[in-house]
Amino acid sequence: MRHFDFKNGEIYAEGVSLRRIAEDVGTPVYVYSTATLERHYNVFTAAFSDVPALVAYSVKANSNIAVLATLAKLGCGADVVSGGELVRALTAGIPASKIVFSGVGKTRSEMELALKSDIRVFNVESLPELAALNEIALSLGKRASIAFRVNPDISAGGHDKISTGKAENKFGIAWDQAEEAYAIAAAMEGINVVGVDVHIGSQIDDLTPFKAAIHKVGALIERLRAAGHNIQSFDIGGGLGIPYGDNRKAPPLPSDYGTMVKDMTRHMDVEMIFEPGRMIAGNAGILLSEVIYAKQGSDRNFLIIDAAMNDLIRPALYDAYHDMEPVKAPGAKYDEIIYDVVGPICETGDTFTKQRALPPMEAGDLLVIHSAGAYGAAQSSQYNTRPLIPEVLVNGYNYQVIRERPSIEDILKTERLPDWL
Ligand code: LLP
Repeated sequence: MRHFDFKNGEIYAEGVSLRRIAEDVGTPVYVYSTATLERHYNVFTAAFSDVPALVAYSVKANSNIAVLATLAKLGCGADVVSGGELVRALTAGIPASKIVFSGVGKTRSEMELALKSDIRVFNVESLPELAALNEIALSLGKRASIAFRVNPDISAGGHDKISTGKAENKFGIAWDQAEEAYAIAAAMEGINVVGVDVHIGSQIDDLTPFKAAIHKVGALIERLRAAGHNIQSFDIGGGLGIPYGDNRKAPPLPSDYGTMVKDMTRHMDVEMIFEPGRMIAGNAGILLSEVIYAKQGSDRNFLIIDAAMNDLIRPALYDAYHDMEPVKAPGAKYDEIIYDVVGPICETGDTFTKQRALPPMEAGDLLVIHSAGAYGAAQSSQYNTRPLIPEVLVNGYNYQVIRERPSIEDILKTERLPDWL
């Protein structure tokens, strides 16, 4: 069931009218649905309820601590890629024993923080990183549990900028160096080898690349075990795509993904780890914006809205498609208008969509941009000194602001004039 749907002629988030949120909090604003977050997490975990598995939500997709705490309550773990995300996950109540630390450039201070927090596993991506981790672990009198993130040289992902599993990408240990890396790690006093990790990309709409990765890594696990390594976990990363409302192929259902993964890994005797981000948060959030002007260009109609590329950069960065609709249901009879929906920033890239058929809209109307729960607020900036926009979490008939809109004074507070000015 959709938790952003029409009631009494206007769109609600669960039991709360979006118009009311706009009136109370102002626009633009991100609105998330607790019920949808819970449903996505439950659907995903249900697919693996009969095998040993850890679902470690990829915090980067939506890192608000209220979102994390909602998932933590359900038993979710976390995949973090920075010290900041680690602190967020811990603050939200995700136990360290369910936190995996990914990332191609972990700094020494981040590794130290993670070791002191006793996280579950480091997904190590290079030998220099391994050496640094070993050194820090020894200095703290600890042993770091690690998996190597291997690069299987498999192409996957909805856009070149989010494809990560090819040899040319910066990620992971090169495939032909993996076994040697394990041998080096096994000889280190501060390192405890526990698993293998792979992540091939994001917004993947087909099971084929996942199958190829599992097949390749499965064979690697056999070779590693034959060489004496105690491989207990297989982290297959995130990447399962979601429907964005365009006409592209629908991504596989989590249940089909689950069946495939289980069929291919059952004989491996490993605990599976998953790092879904978009699948959990993407369709659990919308961006709510107000039309500032409807402008007639020489050959097209522009809807200039109060959200911009600094609030949601996906269309500008990845040519991403996001479904859109007015909050107020159009009357029974109307002629759609073809619009370019754009933000107020002085860049042509500040365009949410081109030539989209929508019901007629005018200044003051509210527009919903769907599927904005993942990589929306998390990738926002204050470009043009536009304050970060608030985030709201709905829960049934209630809602609360979970990130406040800073004032301009808040933004300027961190800046300093040097002595000579
Ligand atoms: N694990 C690792 C190591 C990752 O790098 C990522 C995402 C994930 C898990 C979660 O992937 P997901 O399940 O969300 O596909 N900003 C882009 C997406 C970047 C994905 C980066 N890595 C976008 O808006 O499409």
